[in-house]
Amino acid sequence: MTSNPNIPKHVAVIMDGNGRWARKRGLPRHMGHRSGVSAVRNIVEVAAKRGVDYLTLFAFSSENWNRPREEVSKLMGLFVEALQREVDELHRNNVRLEFIGARQQLQAKLCDMISAAERQTHANNGLRLQVAVAYGGRWDIVQAAQSLAKQVAAGELQPGAIDDAAFSNELALKGVPDPDLLIRTGGEQRISNFLLWNLAYAELWFCDTLWPDFGEQQFDNALEFYAQRERRYGHTAEQVEAAS
Ligand code: FPP
Repeated sequence: MTSNPNIPKHVAVIMDGNGRWARKRGLPRHMGHRSGVSAVRNIVEVAAKRGVDYLTLFAFSSENWNRPREEVSKLMGLFVEALQREVDELHRNNVRLEFIGARQQLQAKLCDMISAAERQTHANNGLRLQVAVAYGGRWDIVQAAQSLAKQVAAGELQPGAIDDAAFSNELALKGVPDPDLLIRTGGEQRISNFLLWNLAYAELWFCDTLWPDFGEQQFDNALEFYAQRERRYGHTAEQVEAAS
């Protein structure tokens, strides 16, 4: 676990720009996603090296189901391929791999591979890598609300007992500290239905680099930006100074 306050404990990433990266080279979009997997491999390695404890990657959103059928199918194939190729290596590097999202929407084969990878790496205590697939921040909040409502209906929970902590505990990232830093590549400056609840106090860092070109240098630029932020959580600058 990192103890350096300049290094974010939890980094979340919206990996955008694969399609444009491919188009610029006259390649089909899925080739951009394929190069995106290499960038994922690099960033996992760099994040672990820099002492980040949690890395959460937005790989496929609830809305991405609306892309052309061929692209969705290529992406799903790529996830299967990446799991087949990378899980043993991640395991050797002590990475704990987890997936968040509506996994019942995925094909049975991919779903089974995800569960197997989670089981295999469960006891690892190095970097915790969370991959969001078929994930949406609104989906997450809705499923948490449904779970709490069921507990209330069953008489196991008083409505008044639903507080911040109780709600967080029903979200996909329960037990994981909120992201300290959100990185979005590809030039857009929006959250795009990623971790809507969890990003409440995250520092936001945007860059124009397309995801397949994102590497160690860009990651370090984001960390440098983070190290210069003063995180106040609603307090005044004077209060923060007095507490440090
Ligand atoms: C956004 O770029 C990227 C995606 C929808 C897919 C992200 C997937 C990967 C990086 C590969 C697989 C990841 C793992 C964890 C194995 P875009 O297609 O929206 O790009 P554009 O905005 O340029 O069109």
